Amino acid sequence: MSDQSNDQRVAIVTGGTRGIGAAITTALARSGVHVAAGYNSNAQAAEELAGKLGAEGASVSVHQGNVGEPGDCTRVVGEVLEARGRVDYLINNAGITVDKTMRRMTVDDWHAVLRINLSGSFYMAKAVLDHMLERGFGRIVNISSTIGQTGGIGQANYAASKSGLFGLTQSLAQEVARKGITVNCVAPGYIETEMVAAVPEEVLAKLLKGVPVGRLGQASEIARAVQFLVDDGAGYITGSVISVNGGLDM
Ligand SMILES: NC(=O)c1ccc[n+]([C@@H]2O[C@H](COP(=O)([O-])OP(=O)(O)OC[C@H]3O[C@@H](n4cnc5c(N)ncnc54)[C@H](OP(=O)(O)O)[C@@H]3O)[C@@H](O)[C@H]2O)c1
Repeated sequence: MSDQSNDQRVAIVTGGTRGIGAAITTALARSGVHVAAGYNSNAQAAEELAGKLGAEGASVSVHQGNVGEPGDCTRVVGEVLEARGRVDYLINNAGITVDKTMRRMTVDDWHAVLRINLSGSFYMAKAVLDHMLERGFGRIVNISSTIGQTGGIGQANYAASKSGLFGLTQSLAQEVARKGITVNCVAPGYIETEMVAAVPEEVLAKLLKGVPVGRLGQASEIARAVQFLVDDGAGYITGSVISVNGGLDM
């Protein structure tokens, strides 16, 4: 049954149970927001995170769904609305890599990454949009990547998906700018998660040489930028990209 009287803010964080998403879930939940954390296949990680945060007194629910399936996106948003009566923040964080040079990249590799990283964010935003418009409030944050700004060898699919998020963000931001809804991107650099652990050591060492701050970023540092963007005081920031990349742009 929906609980329309509940005045606790509600966030949906896709891929919110591991890596950067888990840090976003943790930061928002600890600040008093109810977090509906999405996951696709790793139910154990989802239950563990929800259990840990629940034991601290934070409010977290977990929702299985593939963001590459529009039907899953509408179902998950429906579950959250049914249970909580509102969605204030949508953090489109779920993402995958299938890195291969163009010569080796198959059409399926291309579509798999575009479907989850880019279309998934479109499906989720579309699923919450009417509700946010009705309430006249919303914060949508899309987690892009430095690679979306620079491209990367072996990452044509990933870079295109992350560049695409900039266009999606700015288009939707313009459409809803006068409706109390902001839409922004956070573009992380190299962050210490399982996604980066998959990068060969010698490649990583070379990448780190190009990072002015001289280290990998922490997932909590991405969560900090997301918290800033969802804050009530951030209503004048829309269509923007916040780079959190140790100075890679310089
Ligand atoms: N790590 C970096 O250095 C870095 C840099 C720039 C940008 N990013 C971006 O930051 C985001 C998070 O990256 P991460 O490193 O934290 O990744 P990660 O550790 O691999 O976690 C990915 C999360 O996305 C979920 N997910 C994957 N496919 C999904 C699908 N089809 N439907 C729903 N959820 C799905 C996973 O769920 P399961 O647990 O169920 O698999 C998991 O919770 C991604 O968008 C990534 O592109 C990361």
